[in-house]
Amino acid sequence: MKITVIGTGYVGLVTGVSLSEIGHDVTCIDIDERKVEQMRKGLSPIFEPGLEDMMKRNIGRHRLAFETSYEKGLAEADVIFIAVGTPQKEDGHANLTYIENVAERIAEHICKDAIVVTKSTVPVGTNDRISEVIHSRLKADVNISIASNPEFLREGSAIHDTFHGDRIVIGAEDRQTRETLDRVFAPLAIPVYHTDIRSAEMIKYASNAFLAAKISFINEISHICEKVGADVESVAHGMGLDKRIGNQFLRAGIGYGGSCFPKDTNALVQIAGHVEHDFELLKSVIKVNNNQQSMLVDKVLNRLGGVTGKTIALLGLSFKPNTDDMRDAPSIVIADRLAALDARMTAYDPIASFRASGLLPAEVSYRESIEEAVRGADAVLILTDWEQIKHFPLEAYKELMETPVIFDGRNCHSLEEAEQAGVEYISIGRRAVVPQTDSVT
Ligand code: UDX
Repeated sequence: MKITVIGTGYVGLVTGVSLSEIGHDVTCIDIDERKVEQMRKGLSPIFEPGLEDMMKRNIGRHRLAFETSYEKGLAEADVIFIAVGTPQKEDGHANLTYIENVAERIAEHICKDAIVVTKSTVPVGTNDRISEVIHSRLKADVNISIASNPEFLREGSAIHDTFHGDRIVIGAEDRQTRETLDRVFAPLAIPVYHTDIRSAEMIKYASNAFLAAKISFINEISHICEKVGADVESVAHGMGLDKRIGNQFLRAGIGYGGSCFPKDTNALVQIAGHVEHDFELLKSVIKVNNNQQSMLVDKVLNRLGGVTGKTIALLGLSFKPNTDDMRDAPSIVIADRLAALDARMTAYDPIASFRASGLLPAEVSYRESIEEAVRGADAVLILTDWEQIKHFPLEAYKELMETPVIFDGRNCHSLEEAEQAGVEYISIGRRAVVPQTDSVT
C-alpha cells in the first residue's frame, strides 16, 4: 500500500519507518528541509534504539522516501497519517494549529481517494474538525474518509513497542475504512480494537491519565512508607502480584516527565472542564507529580542543611533512560531549584547533555563520565535510571567523594547494596541507609 506520513517527530518517523519495514511504500513529509536532507541519507534526527538501522535498510529497499513537498508526497497516497505535534499551550489546551494547517494542505493537494488517519494526540472531536476542514476545501473530486489511530509508543522502546504492542486502536465510522486500515497493520499481527472515532481519541487520553495516576499513587504511598517504616519497593511488588493491579507503572521516584504524560493530563483536565466536569482526581495526580519532582531537593536540604557553595552531582538528565528527550524532565525543576539555592552542579548523562545545556541553569557544568561528575562532589543525585548509572558500583562513590551521600530519585540500588558499600544512601519510600561510622545516636 502507498502510505504518506506527515510530520517526522518521534511518532511520525517511527510510524513511517515501521510501516516501510512491514512492506508498505512510505513517504514521510516534513517542512524542515535540513531535516529531510539528513533523513534521506538515513540519519535519524532523534535518538531511538534500532530506528536508524531500520531507516537505512528501507531507504535501500526503495520503500522509504522523504519529501518537503505536499504535492509530491501526497500524489499516490492511499492512506495518510497525520503525526504532527500538538504541543501544550500556556493554558493547558493542546495547540491544534499544526493539525489544522496539515488538514488544509491535504485538501489542497490530494488528488485521489484516500483515508486520512490522525495519529497525533488530539482532543475529542478534533477528527470531526479535520474532516470539516478537508471537505470544505477539497480541490479535487475525491472521496476522503477520516480515522483515528492513537499511538501508545514509549520513547526509547518505540520500535519494540510498534512490533510488540498490546493493541492497535482504530476509530472509524465505516467498514471500508476499517478494512483498509486492518490491511495496513495486518503484518504486525497485533490485536486490533475497532471503535468509533471519538472513543479512539478518548482512549489515548484516558490511558495516559490512568498510567500517570498509577505513578502518582505509588509516589504518594512512598511518602507514607517513609513515615511508617514500610518499603515502597516491597509494597509495589506485593500490589503488582494482584493481576487486577498489575506490576507496571508502580515504580516510585521523582515523578513522570516527557512529551506525553504532563501534556496529556493537563489537556484532559481542560477537555473535562469544557463539558463542565471537574476532573478532581486527575488534578491531584498532576499536583502530586509537580511536588514529587522537587521533593528530592527537600531531602538534600534536610540532610545537608543548605547547599550554598556546595557541589551537587546530577546523574542522568533525560526524563527517562534510552532517550535524549528533555521535555518536562524532572532534572530541569531540580537543577533550577538547586541553582536558586546557590548550589554548584556537575552533570552526567550518556546522551542528553547537549539538549540539557540549553534548558538547565548556567550553574550546571557537564562532564563526560560518572567519575568526572562525582569526583569531589558533596552529594550525588540520581535522576535518571540509565543502565550505566544503575550499574555504577556504590563502592566507587567512596573513592570519589569525601563523604559519599547519594540521593537516589529512581531507587536504582537495593538497601543491602548500600549497606555493604558503606555509603549514605537516601532513596524514595525506603529507610535511609547510614554507614555505621556515621551513625547518629
Ligand atoms: C508514555 C506512554 O507510556 C505511551 O504509551 C504514550 O504513547 C506516550 O507517553 P513515554 O512518555 O515515552 O510514554 O514514557 P514512559 O516510559 O511511559 O514513562 C513516562 C514517565 O513516567 C517517565 O518520566 C518515567 O520515568 C516515569 N515513570 C514510569 C515512573 O516514574 N514510574 C513508573 O513506574 C513508570
